[in-house]
Amino acid sequence: MANEVSRYGSGATVEKLDAHRRYADAFTRALRDRPRKDDRFTLQYVDAFAGEGFVRLRNSSEIVPGSALQALDTIDRPFDRLLFIDRDLKNCERLEQIVAERHDGHRTAVRNADANEEIPAFCSWLGSRHGRMVRAFVFVDPFAMEVDWTTIEAIAATKRADLLMLFPLMSLRRNLKRDGWPTLEHQTALNRFFGDDSWRILYSTGGDSVIREGGDREIVEAYAGRMKGIFAEVVDPQRTLGSAEDGSLFTLVFGASNPGAADLAVRIARGVFDAASGLQRRMRLD
Ligand SMILES: C[S@@+](CC[C@H](N)C(=O)[O-])C[C@H]1O[C@@H](n2cnc3c(N)ncnc32)[C@H](O)[C@@H]1O
Repeated sequence: MANEVSRYGSGATVEKLDAHRRYADAFTRALRDRPRKDDRFTLQYVDAFAGEGFVRLRNSSEIVPGSALQALDTIDRPFDRLLFIDRDLKNCERLEQIVAERHDGHRTAVRNADANEEIPAFCSWLGSRHGRMVRAFVFVDPFAMEVDWTTIEAIAATKRADLLMLFPLMSLRRNLKRDGWPTLEHQTALNRFFGDDSWRILYSTGGDSVIREGGDREIVEAYAGRMKGIFAEVVDPQRTLGSAEDGSLFTLVFGASNPGAADLAVRIARGVFDAASGLQRRMRLD
């Protein structure tokens, strides 16, 4: 088993998983007895890019539970339903095996599918009258720019889901050529990721079309700005995680879709990001 575990993990993975675990715990705790103790919401977890269960940390022999397994083990109240999606068949088979060994099959579904098809389908159910008593936490953790804007829009439209997303800064840097417009292929990828060509504001308007200075912050703000147009509240921690040196540069962004619960969700997200920043400082000191 150990030899088969993914090797994409790094310090950035520890930070990401720390934020994920904290949000999952806080979400289930905050909604434990809502809206009423005798008539509670069904709590749903959705992992759009679920992986295979365990992650091997890079430059280390340590293997840690990934996001899907963390979500199976929240502290105060368990999720009632979990949906794990991954495009890779082997990953799904491993997840299914772990879920079966843990006897969690009654509350967990594993789908070998493209998240950009599966999430909108799930969200149209969640946003319908059938999802009235369901509240969801959706985690979006792609390697690069695999998540379409239409998928993010579908999550926001439910008004019943919170989104924690890994924003793939490294991949955006690669696609946003510095000294001229991106290639047509990269433009298509950027259009899909941003949902339109608003990424063009990152470039100077003259004939040279050079990407403006300011770099990473402007890139994240361009996306977070788009999110603010569709979510009730958005939290952008204004801080990057990981490092460009090992190719893991990213940031996390959060969107609360339910206007009635957005204040609470934002408080939780800010607390999670503050704690993640403490972890980052401690890791630098190690
Ligand atoms: C960064 S890994 C996820 C790690 C996972 N969250 C964890 O903590 O263990 C990204 C995963 O997304 C999957 N993936 C890539 N493109 C996808 C797509 N369009 N739909 C669903 N899964 C996809 C990959 O197979 C890979 O397992």
